[in-house]
Amino acid sequence: MCHLCSWNCLATLLGVFLGLEPVTCLDASQSRPNFLLLMADDLGIGDVGCYGNSTIRTPHIDRLAEGGVRLTQHLAAEAVCTPSRAAFLTGRYPIRSGMTSGNGHRVLQWAAGSGGLPAEEITFAKILKEQGYVTGLIGKWHLGLNCYSSSDHCHHPLSHGFQHFLGMPLGMMGDCAGGEPSEKRVTLQRRLLLCAQASVLATLTMAAGRLTGLLRTPRWMLIFFLAALATVFAAASHYVGDLIIYADCFLMRNHTVTQQPLRLEQVTGLMLREADTFLQRHKHHPFLLFISFLHVHIPLVTMKDFQGQSKHGPYGDNVEEMDWMVGQILDMLDREGLTDNTLVYFASDHGGSLESRMGHTQLGGWNGVYRGGKGMGGWEGGIRVPGILRWPGVLPAGRVVDEPTSMMDVFPTVVRLGGGAEPSDRAIDGRDLMPLLRGETPHSDHEFLLHYCEVFLHAARWVQRDRRRVWKVHFMTPNFHPEGAGACYGSAVCPCIGDVTEHNPPLLFDLSSDPSETHPLTPDMEPEFHTIVGKLRQEAARHWLSLSHIHQQMGTIYNVWRPWLQPCCGEFPWCGCDLEK
Ligand SMILES: *[C@@H]1O[C@H](CO)[C@@H](O)[C@H](O)[C@H]1NC(C)=O
Repeated sequence: MCHLCSWNCLATLLGVFLGLEPVTCLDASQSRPNFLLLMADDLGIGDVGCYGNSTIRTPHIDRLAEGGVRLTQHLAAEAVCTPSRAAFLTGRYPIRSGMTSGNGHRVLQWAAGSGGLPAEEITFAKILKEQGYVTGLIGKWHLGLNCYSSSDHCHHPLSHGFQHFLGMPLGMMGDCAGGEPSEKRVTLQRRLLLCAQASVLATLTMAAGRLTGLLRTPRWMLIFFLAALATVFAAASHYVGDLIIYADCFLMRNHTVTQQPLRLEQVTGLMLREADTFLQRHKHHPFLLFISFLHVHIPLVTMKDFQGQSKHGPYGDNVEEMDWMVGQILDMLDREGLTDNTLVYFASDHGGSLESRMGHTQLGGWNGVYRGGKGMGGWEGGIRVPGILRWPGVLPAGRVVDEPTSMMDVFPTVVRLGGGAEPSDRAIDGRDLMPLLRGETPHSDHEFLLHYCEVFLHAARWVQRDRRRVWKVHFMTPNFHPEGAGACYGSAVCPCIGDVTEHNPPLLFDLSSDPSETHPLTPDMEPEFHTIVGKLRQEAARHWLSLSHIHQQMGTIYNVWRPWLQPCCGEFPWCGCDLEK
């Protein structure tokens, strides 16, 4: 055991002698650690030095891995933000909490939508708060905000176990920078222009009908009304970009909107300062701090010092800046003497986005040898993410674990280490990582992992221990555009249903020998083909039966902009302020 732990132990014994402390002498493995959870947005596993990238510089993430355990088969529960993050916080497949839709809405679209993480869901933050931890969230949330009014905050981080929040309720988007690339504005503009065109067309039809005498009731009122409508829609489409900036790109500090719109150039500094303040204020108290980076999502907001510094354009610059932020935060831990009793976790919410590019400039991440990317239900590139855990003296330094693990595993791991218990009234899909991390068992506790895309099961994996194989079966895969391009260029993400190929028999890969999923196995090549597929079908059916009725949080009606739910500093609709100065 490390020095610090024995000193702690001595101090405790001394305390006991002096009658100050109860008789317990814990080594670090038994005492409750602090938790610092770091999560990148849209970072690909191939973007990180310690995962094999030799041209991008991520020394601080690499340092974390050198001092801890690096997971090579760490999996997100979904390939897009909202469901993956819901699963991370609750330890449950997103389909259990209803953080899904069945009609193409992959994530929450508006800060003023009504869907979000239901109040009945239990996050690890909530359990740790009950265990006496101070809990904080800095950065992106993207799990909803309000249900009925603009300030009920039913889905707000502070309603889900966090005691401190500074960040974006939705998250960074291309639209926050106004220009290209845009995820929302372009579609909305297209729709509004269509409405304008439709009303112009209707007006002309009326006029023609009147001139030819075919239509008897083309009242001027109607024509005037339609023309006005066309003007309104055309004007709206012109301003829709600005509206999105105010509607979604703002900062909240606890329950208050403090910067609307968000000042992009300030946010990195703000987040770091907030982390520093949090750690200084709570260093004498067990804490859980979740830093959910706005990096490396478009529009790739990067400070001057990092612009043009990497070998990989604006995307690489942004990754290197985030790595620098990781370094700054680790330095804060060192400075406050917190390193030895803090469990640090680093991951990305899902794989890098292949579709995110402008012309020939790639603006999304790189998923290394893994096929596919963000948004693709089952392909490895969308779900296999970097996963690093460091706790000096407790977790072996420099260890690499190749067994399948899930981001959902963080839930039981954190809950148990924090002295809490997992809820017993519901299914928890995550597994305690500690035995695997400490080398007490060579095997992951997961025999099966299911890879949903919304509510559709796209793929599943089975760890066959006696043959030391990890099998992966794809029931459905997205159709790429152009064909064979490896991504759905022209749209933001691939769909889960509709423009997909259903495979019957399913595609089978042996991930142990073919991690890139390039050689589908046939029954001739793999004699156990039908057994493997049958086993996974059975598991899928068993899992399906274990689901209870789910209220879909991201279906269309919960995922549209509702003016009365719009958070606003000032008098709606005249929102706008900057209290973070
Ligand atoms: C490193 O990451 C960059 C940025 O995503 C990528 O373009 C490049 O191909 C990666 N290099 C390697 C060797 O993986």
